[in-house]
Amino acid sequence: MVVYPEGIWYSGVQPEDAAEIVEEHFVHGRIVERLANSDAAALRAEAGAHRDRMSERLRRKDAAGTAPDQLLQTIRGFQESRVILTALELDIFSATGNGAGTEEVARRIHADPRATGMLLNALTAMGLLTKRDGRFADTPVAARFLAAQGQNDVRAELLSTELWSFWSKLTDAVRAGTAVGYEARDEDWTEAFIAAMYRGAMERAGGVIGALGVSGVRRMLDVGGGSGGYSIAFAKANSELTADVLDLPTVIPYARRYCAAADVEDRVRVVGGDLSRGPFGAGYDLVFVSSVCHIFSESQNRELLQRCFEACAPGGRVAIHDYLLEPDKTAPKTAAMFALTMLVATAEGSNYSEAEYSSWLSSAGFEGIHSVRPPGPFGLVVGVRPVAR
Ligand SMILES: C[S@@+](CC[C@H](N)C(=O)[O-])C[C@H]1O[C@@H](n2cnc3c(N)ncnc32)[C@H](O)[C@@H]1O
Repeated sequence: MVVYPEGIWYSGVQPEDAAEIVEEHFVHGRIVERLANSDAAALRAEAGAHRDRMSERLRRKDAAGTAPDQLLQTIRGFQESRVILTALELDIFSATGNGAGTEEVARRIHADPRATGMLLNALTAMGLLTKRDGRFADTPVAARFLAAQGQNDVRAELLSTELWSFWSKLTDAVRAGTAVGYEARDEDWTEAFIAAMYRGAMERAGGVIGALGVSGVRRMLDVGGGSGGYSIAFAKANSELTADVLDLPTVIPYARRYCAAADVEDRVRVVGGDLSRGPFGAGYDLVFVSSVCHIFSESQNRELLQRCFEACAPGGRVAIHDYLLEPDKTAPKTAAMFALTMLVATAEGSNYSEAEYSSWLSSAGFEGIHSVRPPGPFGLVVGVRPVAR
C-alpha cells in the first residue's frame, strides 16, 4: 500500500491494519512505523512480485480466451445501476439512515427480509452503505443526496425509473429510428423534471453569464426556458434586464413559483406557448436557447433558429446552450450518450456539434458566430443579428 502524496510505502498490510493506518496516518499524519518500508531494493522486489502475479493472471485469462475484465464490467454495468434504482424505488436510504438492521429496513420498506438483506449487502459493496455489527447506515454521499432527510435530496429529480424504461427500449429505438412506446408524462414527472432543470441552471448560470455578459442586455427571450432559472440569474445580474420565458402551459406554474421565490416575478415574465411554431416577437437583445435544440431534428432546428433571428433586435445575439459534440460526434462521452437519451425519449432529437450549430446559425442570417466553453460538458454557440446596412 502506498500513501500519496507522501509516497509512504506500507508492506505486508493486512485488513486488521487498516483502522490503525486510517487513524494514525490519515487523521493524525503520523507514519505507522511498524509497517512502513523505506528499503528501496526490497520495495522494488515487492513491486516486481506484484506485477509478476498480475501478469501471470492476465496470461492465464488470455490463454483461456476469457474476455477482458473491463469489457465484462461494462457489459454488466446495468447491474449496479439497477441496484441503485431499486434502492431508490424502495426508498432504502431513507430507511437505513443512521443505522438499522435488515429486519427493521425490510419492515420499513414493506419488503422480504432475505431479499432486503441481499440488496443491502450489494449497496454496501458499492460503497453507498456501511455495515457494522449487522446494522446498515448511509455513507455521507447517500445520506446527503439519496435520503428523505438529506441536505440535498435529489431522489425525485433523478427521474431514474423513467429513464430506465426509456433506455430499455434502445434496441427498438435503433431499429425504428425514433422513441418507441412513448407515454405522456404526468404532473409529478413535470414537477421533478423542472426541479432538475432548475438545479442544473443554478449550477451553470454563473458560467453562462460570465461567458455572455449582461451589460447591454435589456430584453431577453428564454426559449423553452423551463424553470426560468437562467432568466432569473440574468435578471439578478442586471437590474435593468427583463426576460420573457416561453414554455409549455403545463410548465408555467412551476416556472412562476421559481420566479416568485427569487423575487424577480416583476421582471421575468413567464408565457405559455408552443416554441415549435409561430413568431417569437421582436426586439430582443438576447435570445437564449438552452437545452432545447437537442429535442429536435436538424430541419426543426434550422426553422427554430430562423424564428430566433427574427426575434433578435439588430445587433442582438442568439446563444445556443447545449452539449457540444466534437466534430466526429464521439466525444465528450456524456454528450454522445445523451444523444441516445434523446433517441429513446424523443421523436427526432439528438445531439449536435459546434460546426452544425454554426452552419445553421449562418444559414439563418447570423454573423460573428463563435463558441464559448464554460467549465463542464455544455458549450455556447453565439451569433449576432447584423445591424442593417
Ligand atoms: C431540457 S428543458 C430545458 C429548460 C431550460 N431551457 C434549461 O436549460 O434549464 C427543455 C424545455 O423545453 C420545453 N419544451 C419542449 N417542447 C416545447 C414546445 N413545443 N413548446 C414550448 N416548450 C417546449 C420543455 O417543457 C422544457 O422546459
